[in-house]
Amino acid sequence: MLPPRPPGTTAGRWLYDALRAAILDGRLGPGLRLPATRDLARQYQLSRGTVVLAFEQLQAEGYVRGKTGSGTYVNDVLPDTLLGIGAGSRPPRGKRTAGGASIRLSGVARRTEPWPSAPPRYIRAFRANQPALDLVPTGLWAQVAGRRLRAVTTQLLMGCPALGYTPLREAIADYLASARGVRCTASQVCIVSGVQDALDLAARLLLDPGDRVAMEDPGYSGAALAFRALGARVVGLPLDAEGVTLPPRLLRDVRMLYITPAHQFPLGVTMSLARRLALLAWAHAANAVILEDDYDSEFRYSGAPVPALQGLDQDDRVLFAGSFSKVLFPGLRLGYLVVPESLVERIETMLSVSRRHGPVLEQAILTDFIADGHFGRHIRRMREIYAQRLGVLLEEGRRHLDGLLTISDVEAGLQTVGWLADGLHAEAVTAAAARRDVQVVPISEYAVARPPREGLQLGFAAVDEVELKRGVRELAMAIGKAGRREDGKYSPQGSGLPRPM
Ligand SMILES: Cc1ncc(COP(=O)(O)O)c(C=O)c1O
Repeated sequence: MLPPRPPGTTAGRWLYDALRAAILDGRLGPGLRLPATRDLARQYQLSRGTVVLAFEQLQAEGYVRGKTGSGTYVNDVLPDTLLGIGAGSRPPRGKRTAGGASIRLSGVARRTEPWPSAPPRYIRAFRANQPALDLVPTGLWAQVAGRRLRAVTTQLLMGCPALGYTPLREAIADYLASARGVRCTASQVCIVSGVQDALDLAARLLLDPGDRVAMEDPGYSGAALAFRALGARVVGLPLDAEGVTLPPRLLRDVRMLYITPAHQFPLGVTMSLARRLALLAWAHAANAVILEDDYDSEFRYSGAPVPALQGLDQDDRVLFAGSFSKVLFPGLRLGYLVVPESLVERIETMLSVSRRHGPVLEQAILTDFIADGHFGRHIRRMREIYAQRLGVLLEEGRRHLDGLLTISDVEAGLQTVGWLADGLHAEAVTAAAARRDVQVVPISEYAVARPPREGLQLGFAAVDEVELKRGVRELAMAIGKAGRREDGKYSPQGSGLPRPM
């Protein structure tokens, strides 16, 4: 029996902490077999993926061992025992001992909460935040990489400037000017290891502990975790049909506003021009900065292209972050942070004492991939495929989920949101869907300060049409199982446990 989940803790973090504590204090003794992930997920109304991730983390840290097909067992020798910590004499949270010495952790280390770092083991409908990895032109990438490596210069092997490989920064500045309406020169482009890295870097550049950062609520949890780790106080701003709202009461003393205007994460709203202008006016009056996350806007399916907010900024207050994770593949770990000219030197100085620079060979290969035209062709091809997949999801949803789930018709990105009918609960549906091998995320996972409506994040890009159709049918069954009462109405309490239909 695990303790209840404290408010504000993600399901994954709670499960990992609870299991680890039970192992360390002997309630789950050495050699004991843990319940099957499916059973645990059902018992605590979690998605199976959440349980699998917690198990994987415990296994990676040596608390448990697992054999495929034969279960997961508590290890006989536990890592903390090896480190000389008795189960009853655990040091306070944030302190660990090694070799008998007490090591004091920094505030940043203590405050950092984990954000899923291991990639999912398999991808099914409706895995969100993921492009179609089976369609990445790896053959072309290999050709470009081979050519570059055969002709590599000693200068390249020595490295590149802290802000990144100059030809890549030039290619990105050109691309952003033409495709996203960003106004910058190559000197303002800093190569980072994806948007997550850009958010951390921007926050380290601009925030002190105690500073207030505002963001969309619901919003991208990876950002909230990065800001909180640095000691910032995160304020959630409600959304409406035009995007983030700007209530003066919540914006008081806010130093930075983090937003996803092209395709709001996770609801998919595109921010209106009027709201963009209001946001810039607020930033000017409040002497605040805006951090624009343009994580997946290359994929736009309808409506006029919406240029970046950065391009409207007259005042040099917008930092613009983007990534190759969605347009190519997340394992590439390359992205960019475009900063106002006045911040370039500071960023360069900070990077010179941390990472020095990102891996230069990947940067050079990506530069060639863009110059050869493969990048542009891949985006155009994927845009068509994703538009078709979105169409299939909407059509199948209308056919099989009518009255259960209303799927939003988004204009851009790799995912959308489905709103559940009254009385249905997203966490219960997520758990029931996981049992049918369907991967959805409750919108509540992205809540910052206030519980959102009951909804599910649905990715449509990562899998093909056959799998999307299977997913819709299974999701309809899962919703029926998760919430239907015997009188045919949806249970207002919608318990997560399956009920007979
Ligand atoms: C809104 C948003 N921002 C940032 C990221 C991080 O992306 P990257 O892989 O570039 O670090 C993600 C990843 O899913 C995202 O959804």
